[in-house]
Order: sequence, then C-alpha cells, then structure tokens
Amino acid sequence: MQAVYIENIAAYEGSEVTLRGWVYNKRSSGKLQFILLRDGTGIIQCVASKGNFSPEQFEALDKLTQESSLEIRGRVRRDERAPGGYEVDFAGFEIHQIADTYPITPKEHGTAFLMEHRHLWLRSTRQHATLKVRHEIIKATRDYFDDQGFTLVDTPIFTPNACEGTTTLFETDYFDEKAYLTQSGQLYNEATAASFGRVYCFGPTFRAEKSKTRRHLMEFWMVEPEVAFAELEDAMELAEGLICFIVERVLSRRKAELDRLERDASRLEAISRPFPRLSYDDAVEKLRAAGSEIEWGGDFGGADETILSEQCQAPLMVHRYPTQVKAFYMQPDPKRPEVALCVDVLAPEGYGEIIGGGQRIHDHDLLLSRIREHNLPLEAFQWYLDLRKYGTVPHAGFGMGIERVVAWICKLEHLRETIAFPRMLYRIYP
Ligand code: 4AD
Ligand code: MG
Repeated sequence: MQAVYIENIAAYEGSEVTLRGWVYNKRSSGKLQFILLRDGTGIIQCVASKGNFSPEQFEALDKLTQESSLEIRGRVRRDERAPGGYEVDFAGFEIHQIADTYPITPKEHGTAFLMEHRHLWLRSTRQHATLKVRHEIIKATRDYFDDQGFTLVDTPIFTPNACEGTTTLFETDYFDEKAYLTQSGQLYNEATAASFGRVYCFGPTFRAEKSKTRRHLMEFWMVEPEVAFAELEDAMELAEGLICFIVERVLSRRKAELDRLERDASRLEAISRPFPRLSYDDAVEKLRAAGSEIEWGGDFGGADETILSEQCQAPLMVHRYPTQVKAFYMQPDPKRPEVALCVDVLAPEGYGEIIGGGQRIHDHDLLLSRIREHNLPLEAFQWYLDLRKYGTVPHAGFGMGIERVVAWICKLEHLRETIAFPRMLYRIYP
C-alpha cells in the first residue's frame, strides 16, 4: 500500500493509505481510540474502533505515548468537523518505537528548558511553522535574484580579512596562520561582480557579538547581492523589491503558518513600494524629539531603531549615516564626505535593521587611506585593492540577515526561534 503524506491526503479520499509519523496526541473513549498523527507535513486524526482489532492489538495502541513512532494503514474519510477536513479509519498499524516520557508537554515551559531541548522543541507547531516560513523566505530570496539574472557565487568561510570591524571576529588557527570566520561575503563578491556583473552569495556568517540581545546571533545566514555599475539608489531599489517579493510570497504560500503563529497578516499585506526614505540627519532629529539622547555622529542603538521603525507601515530606509560609524569600504557622499552613501533598512513594528549596505569606495587611493585609518593589515587587503586597479567602477550591494527577516515576518520576540539550532552567547548545546 502506498505511503502518503498528510498534506496530500485530499487526493486519497475513499482510498486505503499508509501514513508514517509520530503520535502528537491521543484520546480514547473505551471502544474508540483517536490518534493525532503528525508526519511533518500535517496532522490528521486516525480512528481505531475496538471491533476491528484483536484485544492484544487494541491494547498495544493504548500503550502509545506522545512522540511514539508508527505506521498506520487505513481508509481516508472526509469529515467536515476534522481540523484538516479528513480522518483516517484504520485497522492496521506497526509501531516503530514507544517513546520515553516526552519532556515537552502542553504545559508552559521556561525558555532555558526549551532551549536545552531544542532538538525536540523543533517538533512543536510554532517552531515548525516558523521554520516553514524561513524556508519560504529563503526560496523567495533565491528566486528574486535568480529570476533577474544574478549569479550565485559562494564566498569563503575562512578568511584572512575583517569585513565588518575587528571587534566581532572569531579567530581560528589555519595551519601556521591565523584565519577568521567570515563576517560577510561582500569583499569577495566585489571581486566576482567584476566577473559576472550581478552576483549574490548566501551563506552562514559569524560574529562574536559579546552582548546579549534578542537581535543578535553568533552565527546567522546572510544573503548579499553585489552589482557592478550601481550606486546607492540602485541598492535601495533592489532591497525594496526583494522585501516586497518575499512578503508577497509568504502571504501567498504560508498563510496557514502565519495563522498558526497568530501573526496579524494585515500588517504585511499593507506593505507596498516605495518605502519611506529618511536621511540619518532627519532620523536623529526625530529621535531627539522622541526623547532619545542620540547626538549627530553616533550610531543608533536597538532602542533608537525601534522608535524609528515603530512609526512606519512599510520598512524604513535610513540613508547617509556618518562615515565614522560605518565600515571602512563605504563610499563617502561626494557632496558631503562626512556621510557615507549607505542605507539601513529597518523593519516595521519596531523590529529594526534587517538590511545594511550601500555603495563601495571604487577609488584606489581613497580605499588605501581608509584601510590605513582603520588600522587594517594591508597584506590581507592587497587583492581587494587590486580590484580598484583593473577596471574599477561604482558598485553597490547589501546584506540581509535571514533570521531578522524571519523574526519580523513571524512577529517573534527573539532571534533564537528563527533558526533550527541558534548559536547564542554562552550557548552551543545542542
Ligand atoms: O549591517 P551588516 O553588518 O552589513 C554587512 O555585513 C555588509 N558587509 C553587507 C553587505 O553590504 N554585503 O549586516 C547585514 C545584516 C544586518 O542588517 C542584519 O540583518 C544581519 O546582517 N546581522 C545579524 N543578524 C543576526 N545576528 C547578528 N549578530 C547580525 N549582525 C548582522
Ligand atoms: Mg548594519
């Protein structure tokens, strides 16, 4: 008999099928046993009536515990009252394992306990829904770039150079040398953009963020497009388009998951282009009016970003930050060199930065002086400087942190639930 997945059950109405999964929940009324079976694609109620079993078999069913694994053979029946619209009446089954007492029960558990049991917590409906949305966001992201003719070029994880400042580097031995885990693939994709024109990389990135916040992980996934012959405005439009594409895709394909997460989808449906744009200068004024202590020249803290992004329906694009708070490679605004041609996209509902990027310095001598000012080791950046010697052009791009986007779209409190196994400050188990 054909093994089928619960998500496809409608196609088998009236037929005999085999289902394979885990016991999500169970109840019995003497003559009947109801097993809620979970198979990763859905949950369905399977009904056993005593008359169809030998007494031993019916008793065996009684021993099933939460998360026991089994195979069930039965007939699919339409039932308006059932959650998915179908039930399965079964008379055949095979138990793979009777599970030990499952530590995660319907009662409330503390976060520490759940994180300690992350390998099991992943089976819970909220975690399942979140990771389904994550998958959709990643797929949409790839489609967005692929459909426009970008080439995916994967960048290395071991690197000799720091991209985003030296304070958050994870250092490791690389035979007789030191290497760092990559903070960003950007520098490498500035090289590949000169080969392919439009590229993106999509991989894990690492930052030793030494403060505990709900917006930072030590290991996160970032998609980073890079475009030759592009300026700040082009990067902003590309970012805007990407976010709209992702939101529409999730709304059209993952509405059930958003509902399960009790995510108010109307806030996502309200998002449209163009996104509001705000200069750093104006953002500082807004923040001060709202009571923030920020001074011109300072970087925004999480609280500042929350204030700015709470007031907007759509993501907010804050551009032209002071050069001094941004990375060494940022192109200064020719009209005002004290600010950089950069943008941070802040997600609405107080979520803060999901994208950071902008235009890169394309002039060799200016870049050289910036590398020196930032006390970065010249040897490690020779190849990067080379790019400014052989057909240099204005180019721009950005990085979008997938976990931040998942947190916003699913409206989660903390980044720890946006990835299967989060790497957090002082936590590397499981
Ligand atoms: O703003 P960031 O540091 O920019 C860069 O790394 C650029 N080199 C990207 C580029 O232009 N190609 O990081 C980009 C994004 C942030 O907006 C945020 O979404 C995410 O990466 N991010 C983090 N996400 C989770 N945990 C952390 N510790 C993060 N740090 C950055
Ligand atoms: Mg940033």
